Amino acid sequence: MVVDDEDSVRKLLSAVLKREGYQVVCAESGEEALRKFRALPPDLIIMDIRMPNIDGITAFKELRKLSQNVTVILMTAYAAVETAVEAIKLGAFDYVIKPFDIEEVKLLTNRAIQLQKMTEKIFDLNQQLIDSYRLDKIITNSPKMRELCQNIAKIAQSNATVLITGESGTGKELIANTIHYNSRRNSGPFIKINCGALPESLLDSELFGHEKGAFTGAVMRRPGRFEQADHGTLLLDEIGEISPNLQVKLLRVLQEREFERVGGNTTIKTDIRVLAATNRNLAEMVKQGRFRQDLYYRLNVVSLSAPPLRERREDIELLAGYFLQKFTAENEKEIMDFDPDVVKLLENYNWPGNVRELANVVERAVIMSTGSRIFPEDLPDNLRYSSESDLISTLGLEKISGKTLKEMIKKTECLLIKEALQRNHGNKVKTAKELGVSRRSILYKIQEYELE
Ligand SMILES: Nc1ncnc2c1ncn2[C@@H]1O[C@H](COP(=O)(O)OP(=O)(O)OP(=O)(O)O)[C@@H](O)[C@H]1O
Ligand SMILES: [Mg+2]
Repeated sequence: MVVDDEDSVRKLLSAVLKREGYQVVCAESGEEALRKFRALPPDLIIMDIRMPNIDGITAFKELRKLSQNVTVILMTAYAAVETAVEAIKLGAFDYVIKPFDIEEVKLLTNRAIQLQKMTEKIFDLNQQLIDSYRLDKIITNSPKMRELCQNIAKIAQSNATVLITGESGTGKELIANTIHYNSRRNSGPFIKINCGALPESLLDSELFGHEKGAFTGAVMRRPGRFEQADHGTLLLDEIGEISPNLQVKLLRVLQEREFERVGGNTTIKTDIRVLAATNRNLAEMVKQGRFRQDLYYRLNVVSLSAPPLRERREDIELLAGYFLQKFTAENEKEIMDFDPDVVKLLENYNWPGNVRELANVVERAVIMSTGSRIFPEDLPDNLRYSSESDLISTLGLEKISGKTLKEMIKKTECLLIKEALQRNHGNKVKTAKELGVSRRSILYKIQEYELE
């Protein structure tokens, strides 16, 4: 939209921009511009500042009220450049000085439109991210996880610091993402840092940034993660690994929301929400004097704990199915399902590496598989042939833990006999022979355990 009270300017710009391939509407006053904008907002407005009644600056401010993202290039006489500069501070895209060079206007127009397209694209991509971290995208069947999801929904809207705990691979990072993308900060940045991956001095400057010359190699000023996360969320991953010195510095940012860059004196304010994750027991570390109690309390305003996979076995088949689909598509294979024995093996394994380990096992199986079904031989050895330490989980014994030794031995005996019977197709003589007991005692046990 070209806005100018001078007919000749409108005609000239309109002709030039039409030749560039744009559709152009004109307005001869601020009032008309506002009216036309309400009816059909254009992608770009090129507007004169000096016009009768409503001038360009006032019109620009009104437009901004109608749409925060309106893109405006202002035209001004040389004498009024200062007003144009003011307008840029208020969010105008740029200005040209009259009489203007037509090439310059073309260039500015193209650049403004390009920037707008990019902004739109970023917005769309961010919407996709927000969508991919919707709460219902967390795959689960378990009451524990459902409760966790409800808690995530409740706290996402707040600004509270959250401590996310859980064993390795349980989904702590997934939870952190879900919190950010369901919060009011979801169009702002989501910045992560792994506190366990860097030595103290490097972590210090990564977190807080540094000034030029702060240390050898600091050739330029560099903003740290706390600055990058302004208006967004910062995830401090593996917070349990942070050194005592940095714990002190961290406490201050969490309390005051301000800090200095390494080697600098200027105090920087930051508007962030902090999430922290760890697979350590921080309360225990506090007791041992390895983690500051005050910092622990600051981080632990709200805490979420991701349960290990072996405590929500109902999720195993569901997650395995999800990963099967995912990796089948990624590897362009046509695998439909798991052999029932595979499901049994997966469900009985104790998953020390939790969901990540399950994902890896399924990915491997998809790659190894040659047919349309995953069989036990596509699984890694440790799942197929459980070692003695895994016997408990293979037999599902942890489910009956807490009872007396006698009861647990009986349950084990029952399972072993049942398994041997099945393998021998119900042949009691064979089973008795294999297990090294008399036929009579097998018959007795079958009756006792109701295995008939
Ligand atoms: N409920 C779930 N639904 C779908 N994917 C999940 C689920 N839980 C975990 N995952 C996936 O499992 C993998 C491991 O999760 P994540 O990285 O969040 O674990 P973590 O707890 O941060 O592990 P670590 O302590 O090792 O850093 C990721 O690829 C994640 O997307
Ligand atoms: Mg993690």
